Amino acid sequence: MQTEKFKVTDPVGSIVAKRPALARVFEQAGIDYCCGGKVPLGQACQKQGLDPQALLATLEGVVATAGTEPVVKAAALTLTALADHIEATHHGYLKTELPRLDALTQKVAAVHGAHDPRLAQVRDTYAGLAAEMASHMLKEERILFPMIRQLDASESAPAFHCGSIANPIRQMELEHDQAGGALAKMRELTGGFTPPDWACNTYRAMLDALAHLEHDLHQHVHKENNILFPRAIERQG
Ligand SMILES: [Fe+2]
Ligand SMILES: [Fe+2]
Repeated sequence: MQTEKFKVTDPVGSIVAKRPALARVFEQAGIDYCCGGKVPLGQACQKQGLDPQALLATLEGVVATAGTEPVVKAAALTLTALADHIEATHHGYLKTELPRLDALTQKVAAVHGAHDPRLAQVRDTYAGLAAEMASHMLKEERILFPMIRQLDASESAPAFHCGSIANPIRQMELEHDQAGGALAKMRELTGGFTPPDWACNTYRAMLDALAHLEHDLHQHVHKENNILFPRAIERQG
């Protein structure tokens, strides 16, 4: 496979847009590639106290040795296909996972909250995030994504009630930032989703599910913030 050259001036989100599998490198490095996707790689490394050249070498190494696992090339899809993909994959995942995590966080806080008061904070933060995500997805599915599909299907830009499509997009991006904040808070409260020695299986399952939620939500927001939304704004002209 050909080695890909990235530069320190490349925005982090654009790197993940080209190579979604590289998200894991950024996650391990603690670099936010979704809400913070517009930040150049060099600056993102500086913030984390990392050597940009070393991170570039890691990224290129991963690309050079990448396996053949199927990866959705979000940047190559039409706007309609991308909106469909996000709904089916990421919204679908949240609709099954949020109720499961609701039960897990509730149970762990009730059983172990006295032992570790941070578990009540995890529960409260999760409950806030889950409620926000449920209404956020509804807004995307009922308002924004239909507008994007309409844009994709028409030759000339259609007129929308809200004026520019940039207006609802701005609101969605604001909500993404809030969700990102809740995820970061839960990561902090749980020491990076690491179970203590005494953790029971439910506790471990909760942390595993939260870590996966973070990964999926980062991918999800990345596809919206860095690919779907800018392309929809560009299409409207
Ligand atoms: Fe979404
Ligand atoms: Fe969203």
